[in-house]
Amino acid sequence: MQIIVVENYEEMSLRGAEILAAVVKEKPTATLGLATGTTPIGAYRELIRKYENGEISFRDARTVNLDEYVGLDGSDPHSYRYFMQDQLFSHIDIDLSRTNVPSGVAEDLAVECTRYTKMLAECPQDIQLLGLGSDGHIGFNEPGAPFGGHTHVTDLAASTIRDNARLFDRIEDVPTRAITMGIADVMQAKKILLMANGKNKAEAVRAMIKGDVTEACPASILQRHPDVIVILDREAAGLL
Ligand code: F6R
Repeated sequence: MQIIVVENYEEMSLRGAEILAAVVKEKPTATLGLATGTTPIGAYRELIRKYENGEISFRDARTVNLDEYVGLDGSDPHSYRYFMQDQLFSHIDIDLSRTNVPSGVAEDLAVECTRYTKMLAECPQDIQLLGLGSDGHIGFNEPGAPFGGHTHVTDLAASTIRDNARLFDRIEDVPTRAITMGIADVMQAKKILLMANGKNKAEAVRAMIKGDVTEACPASILQRHPDVIVILDREAAGLL
């Protein structure tokens, strides 16, 4: 695990975007595993800038997102499909038919989980971008999620609902379930880039890097992946 500590969110975003851009430059047909949330917004902004400058193109790339809220379709501004359109896809030259976000409104969610797992197995991520939950989750693999798990529907932890309530009018509006890649789907990526900033992530960062590898801290499994880069700002690295 390579750990890079930087001053602030801005620097974390620039370094993260560099790493993602390098993968696309080296392999224009790369499959990029993407995340939503506040953490990657700055890196996406920087990727858009690189695209606008003519430094990179996503024309032949594919994307696979980690997760989606159950019950929200892509036209809902709180959905992760909408987030990806808004924060990245609509600003770059990606072919939308090659962008993948699990569907939270599929008629049969079990069938959707199987479809997504199969699609991931057929096209493994050249790089998977991750944020980190304050409870140590990656994707929406909450504490206790099995390390061998594939795409599944999960209940969100109370702390995750509280953390994400900032993006909704009322906490009651936060969906309580999500469809998420499993840990095994994440770990199949050739390379993993995890970014974390802010002091509310410091304890999870400590457990991920210094703690035991345990399903109680899903991100601790990353200690066993051969190619992981972690970029932290000073606050998130505060307990290392
Ligand atoms: C998002 C995701 C989550 C977030 C995590 C951190 O697709 O899978 O694991 O990365 O909850 O969220 P932020 O970045 O909002 O702190």
